Amino acid sequence: MKKIIVFDTTLRDGEQSAGVSLNIHEKLQIAHQLARLGVDVIEAGFPVASQGDFDAVKAVAKELRGVTVAGLARALEKDIQRAAEALNPAERPRIHVFLATSEIHRQHKLKKAKEEILRQARESVALARSLVSDVEFSPEDASRTELAFLKEVVEAVIEAGATTVNIPDTVGYAVPEEYASLISYLKKEVKNMGKARLSVHCHNDLGLATANSLAAIRAGADQVECTINGIGERAGNAALEEVVMALHTRRDSFDFTTGINTKEIIHTSRLVSGLTGLRVQRNKAIVGENAFAHSSGVHQDGVIKERTTYEIMKPEDIGLTRTRLPLGKLSGRRAFIEKLKELGYGHLTEKEVVEAFGEFKALGDKKKLIYDEDIEAIVVNILEEAPPIYRLDSLRIDCGPGTTPLAEVRLRTRDDKIVENATIGDGPIDALFKAIDLVTGVPGKLLDYNVRAITSGKDALGEVSVEVDVEGKSYRGRAISVDIIEASARAYLNVINRIVQKTAGT
Ligand code: KIV
Ligand code: ZN
Repeated sequence: MKKIIVFDTTLRDGEQSAGVSLNIHEKLQIAHQLARLGVDVIEAGFPVASQGDFDAVKAVAKELRGVTVAGLARALEKDIQRAAEALNPAERPRIHVFLATSEIHRQHKLKKAKEEILRQARESVALARSLVSDVEFSPEDASRTELAFLKEVVEAVIEAGATTVNIPDTVGYAVPEEYASLISYLKKEVKNMGKARLSVHCHNDLGLATANSLAAIRAGADQVECTINGIGERAGNAALEEVVMALHTRRDSFDFTTGINTKEIIHTSRLVSGLTGLRVQRNKAIVGENAFAHSSGVHQDGVIKERTTYEIMKPEDIGLTRTRLPLGKLSGRRAFIEKLKELGYGHLTEKEVVEAFGEFKALGDKKKLIYDEDIEAIVVNILEEAPPIYRLDSLRIDCGPGTTPLAEVRLRTRDDKIVENATIGDGPIDALFKAIDLVTGVPGKLLDYNVRAITSGKDALGEVSVEVDVEGKSYRGRAISVDIIEASARAYLNVINRIVQKTAGT
């Protein structure tokens, strides 16, 4: 069986999803989880894009072992030098250079002729190769590039030293047969193809990213690029869990394997969703809440008689546990630690376990039964916290029929000062967020606000996620609490802390 290289770009293309901005601490959490999942390459960011991106790539390069760490660069000297610098501590560094090749991009974006593109591609790959031994080149918008020119570019960059050539369907325009023939064509016609690996990178604008990736694998691709939960620019990228589970479930049809430990899938999905604030749609293939839920009587009857009547995968294969025995207030530390292990959090540090156990006990005072989802939410919340600049100390809301909503907010700063303010608003949440704006001096415009119960019951934990515009850039934040007003304040503060931390460079 041929082993397909799994290149995960959740931290780069995935982070390009509107409103997503991960701090170093969160990127490291995700990178370590991707390593546990078994990906071969982690694209950690675009070092030249900002100091934050540079620092995050460097931190991932420094901490992760046994996995290739890639950094993106345009085909420009300053980008490539910066990527090499960020990747310097990596055990296995890879510089990923990209340059658009399609006529649309050449004419309108780059305003460059074919010859100039060829020269720039060749020179930038040669420069990257002089700095690291592993260089990937992506002719951006490859699927809309003239075939003969694409072949010429691929040959030229391999000659210049590219070890992987990636063929992006940048705008998700391709359909499976066409994309597969493009891959077969390059495999067959590029005279030095044997010297490099061929990779595929599909966007999901037509909902075909997974189908295109699988068709390309069948046609000879050696590497597949994807993101967890399919997040990414616009409609996102091919979802790692879909590509991997298709190869795994349909082994009878695909003669390929990957290094992915599928049992880590659900856990990775929840971590990425929690830290990015991008919720997974309920009916999302593999990782959606309904992916293994059987609701009609006929289906339930069938599954009870024989699971395979309506289930093509075992929930356990992606790490879902069937036994969902809830814990309660009286459950001890040992039972809690066992539960953490069962949920895939056996790697938490002692400090994180102590903190999680404290939150678990506090929750036990407020709600009788604590489900797996509650524990997972508590842990994600703990992992998310880079030392915040503002913490919620207390809040008071006055609202109801016939009254003007009023919010009073007290925050504690990192240097232990109390700052507070109060204001009125159009509703309790409006007043609350305006009061936080007044205290922090960061004026946010709320773009989206969602609240959901993590489990059932009136005492369920509530999760609030917000999208906030600050000076023309959107950010996402989330928080959990049995008190949804408190969760709202903390989700909003989560965004403010991200912005202030970024500005302060912490
Ligand atoms: O979609 C794309 O073309 C990309 C490249 C940078 C590989 O993300
Ligand atoms: Zn992309």
